[in-house]
Amino acid sequence: MCGIIGCITSDDCAAKSVYEGLLRLEYRGYDSVGISALGGGKIVTVKKSGRVSGLAEYVGGLKGNVAAGHTRWATHGAPSGVNAHPHCEGRFSVVHNGIIENYAELRDELISRGYEFRSETDSEVAVKLIADNFRGDVLAAVAAAAVRLRGSFALVVLCEGFEGFVAVRNRSSLVVGVCEEGIFAASDVPALPESADEITVMEDGDIAVITRSGAQYFDFCLNTVTRRARRVERDGFTADKGGYPHFMLKELNQSARAVEDTVEGFFRSVDLGRLRSLVSGADEIILTGCGTAYNSGLIAARFFGESSARVRVEIASELRYYPPKMSKNTLVIAISQSGETADTVGAVSLFRQTGAQVIAVTNCGYSAITRLANIVVPVCAGAEICVAATKSYFGQLAALYLTANVCADVAFAKSQLRSVALQFSSVLSQTAECECFAGMCAASRAVFFMGRGADYDVAVEASLKLKEVSYIFSDAYPAGELKHGTLALIDGDTLGIFVICQERTAEKCISAVHEVLCRGGKAAIITDMEAEDDSLDGVPVWRIPRVGKMSVFLSAFALQLVAYRTAVKIGRDPDKPRNLAKSVTVE
Ligand code: G6P
Repeated sequence: MCGIIGCITSDDCAAKSVYEGLLRLEYRGYDSVGISALGGGKIVTVKKSGRVSGLAEYVGGLKGNVAAGHTRWATHGAPSGVNAHPHCEGRFSVVHNGIIENYAELRDELISRGYEFRSETDSEVAVKLIADNFRGDVLAAVAAAAVRLRGSFALVVLCEGFEGFVAVRNRSSLVVGVCEEGIFAASDVPALPESADEITVMEDGDIAVITRSGAQYFDFCLNTVTRRARRVERDGFTADKGGYPHFMLKELNQSARAVEDTVEGFFRSVDLGRLRSLVSGADEIILTGCGTAYNSGLIAARFFGESSARVRVEIASELRYYPPKMSKNTLVIAISQSGETADTVGAVSLFRQTGAQVIAVTNCGYSAITRLANIVVPVCAGAEICVAATKSYFGQLAALYLTANVCADVAFAKSQLRSVALQFSSVLSQTAECECFAGMCAASRAVFFMGRGADYDVAVEASLKLKEVSYIFSDAYPAGELKHGTLALIDGDTLGIFVICQERTAEKCISAVHEVLCRGGKAAIITDMEAEDDSLDGVPVWRIPRVGKMSVFLSAFALQLVAYRTAVKIGRDPDKPRNLAKSVTVE
């Protein structure tokens, strides 16, 4: 994935602006970092393994009014200083986000022409190909290289002798912002200075030539193309923890607001008539997404229980290569916090080509899926900086609940969401329960989350969150499946956390708790039911407020809090889990 940024500034501190932008792009990857600055006609580059802050001491020494930078999430080649970007060749320096799929073949070709490769990355072919095509015109060299690259790439290219930079986009996001400080191109809006309140979203196949006088856009055949700037909401982009020790905790505390703002945003900005006709006209609804977004789809499928359409939930990375046979009126609901996840965008593109209707449920109004969708249902969670999704999940659930009820009593759905939002603070105040659950997780080798019906869907998200931020092995099972295999794993070092909020299967779940206990395993229960069960003496029970079928919001919230507290207890950095990144813009 990675985050990239390039800029031309009016002073000779472009590298400082790039460094600050990289700090705000770190959610896209943080295993190595590098900056090139172009000043006095020469490019100077520093790069290192580790986080962006590792470059702090070098930034002051990088002089020049043009610079490019990169924060990496390794795909090809281990995280190291050599594999860090920028990659340089001759007069060029290049940063890349994406995956160049035909890099091996290009590498062989370039080696046969005498180029020497220093890194193990796919990206190094880009800079060598550009250098190889350079005959005095930077734009022509970049375009000639771009048409040879297969895969996804956003590039920023610096060239000695050219006072400006060139940006290229193909299936990896890139936005351009003009502001007092200068002109910037970056993977995402947060990287731009606060004063950049107008952005131009580059399209696939665009090349931007950026000089002091502005940005000019071309296609890969060097025809001029017109791209319009749009205003962008910058609210909440501050990389400020607001007094909390971690972004994860700050963002968990904003979950109720994410629900409320999403409800507000839905009635303010969605064309309800159009949404109704899409939902009521569907004979099949496919919910899709990745990670936590997929998990919100699991729950949303149950929200559509009353619909006459067949409803299915598919992981986007599977759906794009193994699409089901489509019915005549297929409606795809693509869920993505960032709106840029490559697999989700890939699945949506595929379905658009086959004529399906698409609803995008996203926290990012200028993202790739919004441009592919027939209609956008906004998630109004504000900027989410912690890599693991928290408040955006609850915003997604709210947006999906309203969408599922748009043809029914949507005003009632709105009031239900407002009521449940009021209960988040009660769950937050149950700190003793949270500490107890987190202590049990921290002391376990493996944690299994179990539940039935919608409680199982909550378990899936709870398990993902715990493993993401604590690295403790965890998995989720429908509680009835325990006896068909998972029971073999139960011993004194394992913990079963049972979500029991569905009356219909509550007793069955309690039996599963006993099955764990009598095999020496540990168990804990989260429930919205009052009834006490004497046979479960000694098993910690977390009683969350009773909100009927909206319990999924509160049990999931409680278990995200547990994941956070567990991570902190065992000394993990919950905001930046190892090996992960937030916007996964590569396959
Ligand atoms: C990554 C993140 C997850 C996120 C998933 C989908 O894996 O670490 O937190 O849920 O991507 O991201 P999206 O932006 O599409 O919701």
